[in-house]
Amino acid sequence: MLHGRRILLIISGGIAAYKGLDLIRRLKERGASVRCVLTAGAQQFITPLSAAALSGEKAYTDLFSLTDESEMGHLRLAQESDLLVVAPASADLLAKMAGGLADDLASTALLATDKPILVAPAMNFRMWGHAATQANLATLAARGVKRIGPNSGPLAENESGMGRMAEPLEIVAAVEAIFAGAAALTGKRALVTSGPTHEPIDPVRYIANRSSGKQGHAIAAALVQLGADCTLVSGPTEEPDPPGVKVVQVTTAREMLAACETALPVDIAVCAAAVADWRTEGTDAKLKKKEGTIPSLTLVENPDILARLSQAGDRRPKLVVGFAAETENVVANAQAKRVRKNCDWILANDVSPATGVFGGDQNTIHLVDAQGTEDWPSLTKRDVGERLAQRIAAFFKAEKST
Ligand code: CTP
Repeated sequence: MLHGRRILLIISGGIAAYKGLDLIRRLKERGASVRCVLTAGAQQFITPLSAAALSGEKAYTDLFSLTDESEMGHLRLAQESDLLVVAPASADLLAKMAGGLADDLASTALLATDKPILVAPAMNFRMWGHAATQANLATLAARGVKRIGPNSGPLAENESGMGRMAEPLEIVAAVEAIFAGAAALTGKRALVTSGPTHEPIDPVRYIANRSSGKQGHAIAAALVQLGADCTLVSGPTEEPDPPGVKVVQVTTAREMLAACETALPVDIAVCAAAVADWRTEGTDAKLKKKEGTIPSLTLVENPDILARLSQAGDRRPKLVVGFAAETENVVANAQAKRVRKNCDWILANDVSPATGVFGGDQNTIHLVDAQGTEDWPSLTKRDVGERLAQRIAAFFKAEKST
């Protein structure tokens, strides 16, 4: 399945462009989200409207369209994808890729990406056999571009031979194989906490915080994409459930702890929730205003879920990762927190109001472990999730080889 995978489908010119439309449907059936770019050649065979209708997203055509650039620049188009699929890939587009040309939106997106690329060539058999095309394919293969097909069979203009685009289902299988190759956490169980907790004061009021749950949810999504079996214990958030993740909704810190303990044993625990440190003793009756008196709340300490998981004895996850939301001395405080809570890694972030981290989409992380600190650049929360998942995969790989 391709849940949560973002595919940029580039459709170039050729009669096989109509199969590109079928490919959109097949990829979406498997849970992928698909954005399409149509070259000028492709638009001789199919319309952006059909691609948009099938993908459920705007179809992109023009490098210099102001609307397209303001909504979605070519760099973002490529970067906000997990894989670029070129189907059909014409001889002309393959040549542009090999030569590093960037004179339209498709070739520019292909040059401006560091994401994996899969091409499904389609062309006349003489073009396929031409030394130029074969040299271009060799160049692309040496750069790591993956290829599916072409097949041999009937071609346009009553000809037949090598050059028929692979069938959409074959392309889907190749896409799945690319992602499966990246499934470094298959067989690993993960637990992620996310969002705030709400601690009731009375039946209508509660103590809460500004956590959006974006970071925790993105981490769960990234772990599943690497093949982990992931449970996400989430406080109240607006975030949609990440596809393929088991989500347990909770409200209070104590409910969150109970849900985490139920999820054990796991190999990986990532505590990204902004758990309320304190709760009130609470009351079943609504507090009423009384002239001249201001109620005072008596706070009691909540369990520290990260510390509990880190000290769970023989049920301790192999790798326990916490966050440190700091406003000053970010790294030094995080180092102290790591030791105090007995976890393996702390992802420290500056949550001062000026950074906009709480509720925002960007995050700047310092990963603190027993060896030192790794400073990450400012990334989207989704990219932080993916980088952390890769880092976790590398941890287990290193472990296996020692
Ligand atoms: N955490 C937790 N349970 C709590 C409090 C915090 O699991 N009751 C986890 C958070 O999910 C995070 C880490 O502990 O991974 C750090 O939380 P943070 O609020 O930054 O630190 P605190 O321990 O609350 O310390 P302080 O507020 O003093 O900085």
